Amino acid sequence: MTTQGEAAKPLTGRVALVTGASSGIGEATARALAGAGAKTAIVARRADRLEALARRIQDAGGEALAIAADASLESEAERMLGEVERRYGRLDILVNNAGIMLLSPVAEAEIADFRRMIEINLFGLMTLSRLALPIMKRGGAGHFVNISSVAGRIANPGAGAYAATKFGVVAFSESLRREVYKDKIRVTVIEPGMVATELPNHIANPGMRAGLEQRKAAMEPLEAEDIAAAVLYAVTQPPRVNVNEILIRPTLQER
Ligand SMILES: NC(=O)c1ccc[n+]([C@@H]2O[C@H](COP(=O)([O-])OP(=O)(O)OC[C@H]3O[C@@H](n4cnc5c(N)ncnc54)[C@H](OP(=O)(O)O)[C@@H]3O)[C@@H](O)[C@H]2O)c1
Repeated sequence: MTTQGEAAKPLTGRVALVTGASSGIGEATARALAGAGAKTAIVARRADRLEALARRIQDAGGEALAIAADASLESEAERMLGEVERRYGRLDILVNNAGIMLLSPVAEAEIADFRRMIEINLFGLMTLSRLALPIMKRGGAGHFVNISSVAGRIANPGAGAYAATKFGVVAFSESLRREVYKDKIRVTVIEPGMVATELPNHIANPGMRAGLEQRKAAMEPLEAEDIAAAVLYAVTQPPRVNVNEILIRPTLQER
């Protein structure tokens, strides 16, 4: 509720859930949505980071609910949506952002890393979307924002499995959009190029890490806030506008 003289923020009255909010793009997006007035549930496995972010949002006058959970698991997806419904009674915006990027040439890859990436980048996103749909339908509208990547458009050597998950996000999102648009539920895919975050920290392959560092040094990477601004743009358009896709690269990134 806004007090007299205070202008309503664009997302006042809306409820958002952001996965992977303990760092990088998810953290910046959660701050942007909460700053725009959304009650924002934040999900990741690192509880301490989530609690610190929730405090930061609350100190800035926003509303946040920290839920420590593994977003790759169906039971955890059910639990987090249950907590959101109990606390806020609805869900308007789901930002499926949690992800990992374990780059390696196929010949050197750990098979377990294929599974880990598929489980969080793709299976988790699909599962949470499936379980969130009835909640959005009950609310009469909704908005999925799925974070893919330039790697969802172009498969570079060393990124086969990661790109497969991100191509999968694009395919799933387009199919979902065509199923739910009549329910006034919108679907947006965001495809960032290189963003300065913790994402490369989990790459074990030394050649891939060095190559990525070299590419990064040759360009000014995007900031997490640049992607958060794209998310905010998509979710603050009038109901008639369905922003389906935003591909956003650093100026100096060629492909
Ligand atoms: N950085 C880039 O250049 C870039 C480019 C294109 C697309 N993207 C995509 O952007 C998204 C966010 O990545 P980022 O760059 O912001 O990297 P990041 O700083 O490493 O953030 C990844 C987030 O995902 C969370 N996460 C990972 N596995 C999880 C799980 N099983 N359950 C819940 N949360 C989990 C991490 O939190 P916990 O570890 O605390 O769980 C963290 O909050 C990813 O989908 C990534 O593929 C990034």
